[in-house]
Amino acid sequence: MRIAMIGTGYVGLVSGACFSDFGHEVVCVDKDARKIELLHQNVMPIYEPGLAELVASNVKAGRLSFTTDLAEGVKDADAVFIAVGTPSRRGDGHADLSYVFAAAEEIAHALTKPSVIVTKSTVPVGTGDEVERILAKIAPQSGAKVVSNPEFLREGAAIEDFKRPDRVVVGTDDEDAREVMRAIYRPLSLNQNAPVLFVGRRTSELIKYAANAFLAVKITFINEIADLCEQVGANVQEVSRGIGMDNRIGSKFLHAGPGYGGSCFPKDTLALMKTADDNDTPLRIVEATVQVNDARKRAMGRKVIKAMGGDVRGKTVAILGLTFKPNTDDMRDAPSLAVIQALQDAGATVKAYDPEGVEQASKMLTNVEFSESPYVAADGADGLVIVTEWDEFRALDLGRMAKILKTPLLVDLRNIYPSDEAKRAGLTLVGVGRGT
Ligand code: UGA
Repeated sequence: MRIAMIGTGYVGLVSGACFSDFGHEVVCVDKDARKIELLHQNVMPIYEPGLAELVASNVKAGRLSFTTDLAEGVKDADAVFIAVGTPSRRGDGHADLSYVFAAAEEIAHALTKPSVIVTKSTVPVGTGDEVERILAKIAPQSGAKVVSNPEFLREGAAIEDFKRPDRVVVGTDDEDAREVMRAIYRPLSLNQNAPVLFVGRRTSELIKYAANAFLAVKITFINEIADLCEQVGANVQEVSRGIGMDNRIGSKFLHAGPGYGGSCFPKDTLALMKTADDNDTPLRIVEATVQVNDARKRAMGRKVIKAMGGDVRGKTVAILGLTFKPNTDDMRDAPSLAVIQALQDAGATVKAYDPEGVEQASKMLTNVEFSESPYVAADGADGLVIVTEWDEFRALDLGRMAKILKTPLLVDLRNIYPSDEAKRAGLTLVGVGRGT
């Protein structure tokens, strides 16, 4: 199959690289000439484990290429994937579809055969209909079909998620388009037994939002249970295990923490709420989730202040982990931003360490001293706070930390460390949803 991938952001680049690795011929297109130039030099615009190697080997094999010329990429393509951004529109939370529609127009002008046009970007229900209208207006004779094929990959585990998905969702009622999509994903069904779920296009668009909203609800639910655990002397990690062993609930996404962040859950829950409101079907559970999660991030700052005795004026706090989760440099809606702001507002000085996020973080944070190791950050601080669970924080030398901290306090917002281990090392430990 010959595939054009429009947009080399997270989803586009990972999907393009993985499709080429399946053996398809893929051209990735982006307007940003600098990005394409860097990709030609095998410099990835994002930090994603394994991506540079995957791109390099497929470029070498002649199956993957990059261009700024959309018409060149779309020429003779069996499928054209739209994987451009759909950020929250300023002011109202709706998904901004201007990039999607602009891409659809350009594609319509460039079509040379009845290609399948696939929206891979996360797009609200009905977007496929609009893309179809654009194609019908500009290229009425093209015979192009519009399909929805949302992506469920997680940052930091994107390649694994793409190649070993729980399912692939394809939304179209057109049998020819289904055939093309079947051929594109055949390597997955052959090797991984990944089910391809064929549904209507609107249903497919909604599945993506419903999945992200459900996961956001699940996390927020366990976060509230964690707060209750603290009040009643229960342990949230054991509650998670206990409820997760019920197959109907499932054990994943039940890790209590400082609240969800990232480029997807916050944006997609807002967009889903807008769609729901516009259709007079408000989603109260999702609304509550968004409110509770927003409040939680700052509340985690207050939790740190309380652990430090209630007054942090003139004190120094060392933060470990800034990105919204490990294995990414993504700082969008990261809980660390609200935690640090709350600490600074209360008069604390903040030092921070993150393995990959400092470049992005330094654009969003002011008056934070970035350190080159967890120990440099902790040296002389009045408290150490783990905000993101990078692997390298799982094996800290706690004894050394206890010695170099001015006050031997560890606030573990990701529940990495058992209390006895911290105690043995001489640290006071405050976790989430469990006793100290
Ligand atoms: C999420 C979904 O998991 C993907 O399936 C989806 O494709 C993606 O959004 C998207 O729409 O593009 P991602 O945002 O990369 O992926 O990250 P997650 O691993 O889902 O984590 C999201 C947030 O939830 C992080 O802040 C994480 O720390 C938090 N989280 C996750 C918890 O606090 N507890 C958990 O148990 C799990």
